Amino acid sequence: MRYHCIHVLCVLTAVPLGNIAKPLSPLAGWGPMHIKHSWSPVPDDWVSLGHPPPGTTIDLYIALKSHRENALRDTLYQVSEPSHPRPRRRYGAHLTNEQLAELIAPHPETLELVNSWLVHQGIPSSSISMTHGGDTLTLKDVSIIQANALLNASYQLYRHVEHGGTIIRTVGYALPVGLHKHVVTVAPTTTFFSLPPPTQWHASLNGSDGEAVEMVRAASGEPATQLSNRAKVSSLEPSFLRWLYGTATYKPAAIDRNFLGIAGFLNDYPSPTDLKAFMRKYRSDGKKATFTVMRVNNGGYDPKRPAIEANLDLQYAMAMAYPTPHIFYSTGQGRSNTDDWFISFLGYFLRQQNGPKTISTSYCVNEKSSSLEYSIYVCDLFGKLGLLGVSVLYATCDDGVGKDCTLSDGTVRFKPKFPATCPYVTAVGGTTDFDPEVGAVISGGGFSDYFKIPDYQRQAVPGFFQILGNKYNGLYNATGRGIPDISAQAMGFNIFVGGKKQMVHGTSGSAPVVAGIIALINDHLISNNRPVLGFLNPWLYGSAARSLFDVTSGTNPGCNTDGFSAVPGWDPVTGLGTLVGVFPGLSGLGSSSRGLPP
Ligand SMILES: *[C@@H]1O[C@H](CO)[C@@H](O)[C@H](O)[C@H]1NC(C)=O
Ligand SMILES: *[C@@H]1O[C@H](CO)[C@@H](O)[C@H](O)[C@H]1NC(C)=O
Ligand SMILES: *[C@@H]1O[C@H](CO)[C@@H](O)[C@H](O)[C@H]1NC(C)=O
Repeated sequence: MRYHCIHVLCVLTAVPLGNIAKPLSPLAGWGPMHIKHSWSPVPDDWVSLGHPPPGTTIDLYIALKSHRENALRDTLYQVSEPSHPRPRRRYGAHLTNEQLAELIAPHPETLELVNSWLVHQGIPSSSISMTHGGDTLTLKDVSIIQANALLNASYQLYRHVEHGGTIIRTVGYALPVGLHKHVVTVAPTTTFFSLPPPTQWHASLNGSDGEAVEMVRAASGEPATQLSNRAKVSSLEPSFLRWLYGTATYKPAAIDRNFLGIAGFLNDYPSPTDLKAFMRKYRSDGKKATFTVMRVNNGGYDPKRPAIEANLDLQYAMAMAYPTPHIFYSTGQGRSNTDDWFISFLGYFLRQQNGPKTISTSYCVNEKSSSLEYSIYVCDLFGKLGLLGVSVLYATCDDGVGKDCTLSDGTVRFKPKFPATCPYVTAVGGTTDFDPEVGAVISGGGFSDYFKIPDYQRQAVPGFFQILGNKYNGLYNATGRGIPDISAQAMGFNIFVGGKKQMVHGTSGSAPVVAGIIALINDHLISNNRPVLGFLNPWLYGSAARSLFDVTSGTNPGCNTDGFSAVPGWDPVTGLGTLVGVFPGLSGLGSSSRGLPP
């Protein structure tokens, strides 16, 4: 079943409406339509192909404002901040799904108002469902005509001029003015991103053993970069990574209770045969390694059509965390590419009672390809995962400070990547070399234009601006959240795809490596009856920081600039650094393990 009913509505029906809200006069309550969000002109790189075929329907998500505005953020920090002052310290006290639903529920008046508006607009209540807790309404199978009328929108089919992927979106939409303060966002409306059609990113399997094939685009939405064999790289064998990050001798002990999740999208599948071949070569203790596939939103699965990204993510997470069980989430994009993959995936994941507590994702989009309110909504969904105790790792992608940075008005601006810029995920950049590790040229990094600097970065980030001075003024937002948070090796992953070995690069590989290490730390914690790490950043910027390896050289060029430079302390190339010293701090596995939360 897609959605549970309706915690809050049950409350609603039990309480006489007059007691909780002033009596509603729907017509008076809604008021005239006001624009909620619009782009002008159509976002870069997208062209309209006109109206979608007649009969096209979409599923609309309506995200409702929470009754208690800062409850999500405040509670997330309370349960994730090891040094949160007592008595409000609740470190590790992650919520149950029930507690979460209660925390984020909208006000009953909000639900009532939006529901009555929808019904008045002719949306049958049978096609409206609600997430547990009621923070998101889903309207199934809304015709385009009806969606246009409901939102004063003009849904059209758009094609990406480079990769040819298509989506159905509108450049603007409106809501009755009386609903604006109740609704965070409606999706899909003005989010302009998609991945290329599947055929374009399945592996080109012509490369021979260890030889890189070709440079494929690393634009927004794109997974792993394959580099040309001109790039001189050392290869990242799992034994090297396990040595470097100090996990080689750890024996997982909680594999019945600890899982690692890999999020995959759009027909991008991993192959169990490739995984076995990879493990046979690089981790002979794990020759039998396997994984579970969960299909989200009608996601497909064809093990005979392995993709580079999915194989990379799974093989390197497994290389680190074996024998911890792995789950691959194959998320579909719905009929005619209408669905929003972040919302589909996160909605599914938040409904799980016992999902993985570590999850890695290597897909990202330009922050400005979505509206602020959409980004806030999706970011809050990640915050909810944190409240449930899930550590969410996101690659910062492979464009350095950005790619194609001239905006339609002619100005140039760095292009940070979402969801990495969401303050409730852990953004993972890339390094190369060792002794010392150096920031990788591809490492995505910068500052958000949508999310202000979170409290956990207030000590660490200003030192970087002192070193930077006024270089790049106007190209980035100095009040924004900085990314990445941490980094890991990114250049020279040896993977198996379609039975052949090939070498790929990317923060796409760094994120699952970090996820593997985090899953092992969780294994240690679970084995010692301690809470899992959950949302990592307050810990990383706090007590873990002294155990990290501070990467102090390397740059991340992009946007026709040399990019930022790694410096002592936090920087927007490698974040705080790499996890070199955190895991070795566990050796002896005593409760005083260095770097771990007390
Ligand atoms: C509806 O959208 C059109 C443009 O598509 C605009 O001209 C009109 O003012 C909008 N109406 C309302 C009520 O917002
Ligand atoms: C891969 O090999 C096939 C058949 O041998 C060939 O048609 C194709 O062009 C090759 N692709 C690349 C990228 O070299
Ligand atoms: C800079 O970021 C802040 C949030 O930290 C935001 O309010 C502001 O609009 C951003 N400025 C630009 C030019 O995007």
